[in-house]
Amino acid sequence: METSVKPESRTGNSLDGMTALVTGAGSGIGQAAARALSAAGARVMVTELPDRLERAQATVSELEDAGGSALALALDVRDLRSITDCVHAAVQAVPRLDILVNNAGVNVRQPAFDVTEEAWDLVLDTNLKGLFFMAQAAGRAMRDQDPPGGSIINISSIMGLVGYYDRAAYCSSKAGVVNLTRVLAVEWAPYQIRVNTVCPTFVETPLTHVMFENEAIKTDILGRTPTGRLATPEEVAAAIVFLAGPSARMMTGAALTLDGGWTAI
Ligand SMILES: NC(=O)c1ccc[n+]([C@@H]2O[C@H](COP(=O)([O-])OP(=O)(O)OC[C@H]3O[C@@H](n4cnc5c(N)ncnc54)[C@H](O)[C@@H]3O)[C@@H](O)[C@H]2O)c1
Repeated sequence: METSVKPESRTGNSLDGMTALVTGAGSGIGQAAARALSAAGARVMVTELPDRLERAQATVSELEDAGGSALALALDVRDLRSITDCVHAAVQAVPRLDILVNNAGVNVRQPAFDVTEEAWDLVLDTNLKGLFFMAQAAGRAMRDQDPPGGSIINISSIMGLVGYYDRAAYCSSKAGVVNLTRVLAVEWAPYQIRVNTVCPTFVETPLTHVMFENEAIKTDILGRTPTGRLATPEEVAAAIVFLAGPSARMMTGAALTLDGGWTAI
């Protein structure tokens, strides 16, 4: 009688012994993801912009105080050299790279008539171009390790699926992330690299805090959301842990919505 558990029949979502790289993890959703990945057992490499590195170090200290293992790395995803250096430092520090959470992102809210080239470039360079080259660098490392494989989770947004006011650049970038995810999933499946995206509705974080001081905008958003509330960073982090781990072994190319039913209407 066979008694051993076949890999494909393993259940649960422990990330024990795995390593994760989370971009923009000194704040908001990235920080919540770093906490959740660490709590699930992963060693977490936390990146921040070079001039905000102390935020990454604060996340690392928090994870270590909770008994986890973590490392802070500088990264500006608009700079290809910075991406190369960051991924190089990461793979030097750990035996293998199992998980990339491509979280770093920005928004500049402007009506479409008023979008400037500077704002367009900042948003697209960070949210789409930077995310792609980060996935490429991490994907190459995942392909070249023995055995090959990994899980990449790209953070898109409900704004990648629907239109909304004052977000021509942001919505374009996030829609690009959804379809880029499908391309990478298809191309990299032979290397056991899964690529998925999460599309959260609005979450109160430093990125959105000022916007939610505007009661009219908050009321409009909640009115479009059947559950009648915003998402929390912890809810997004739970989806990231799920996609990273063995429970999601059959998932690749997916866009997982966390939108309280916004796109179900
Ligand atoms: N907050 C929301 O409502 C919401 C909803 C859906 C999706 N998202 C997405 O979630 C991700 C995280 O957003 P958040 O709300 O936690 O925002 P945040 O501003 O709290 O965090 C963004 C992080 O990205 C980092 N970052 C910015 N530019 C960077 C660059 N060039 N290189 C490297 N790091 C850079 C910032 O330093 C920060 O740590 C973003 O991709 C955002 O678009 C946010």
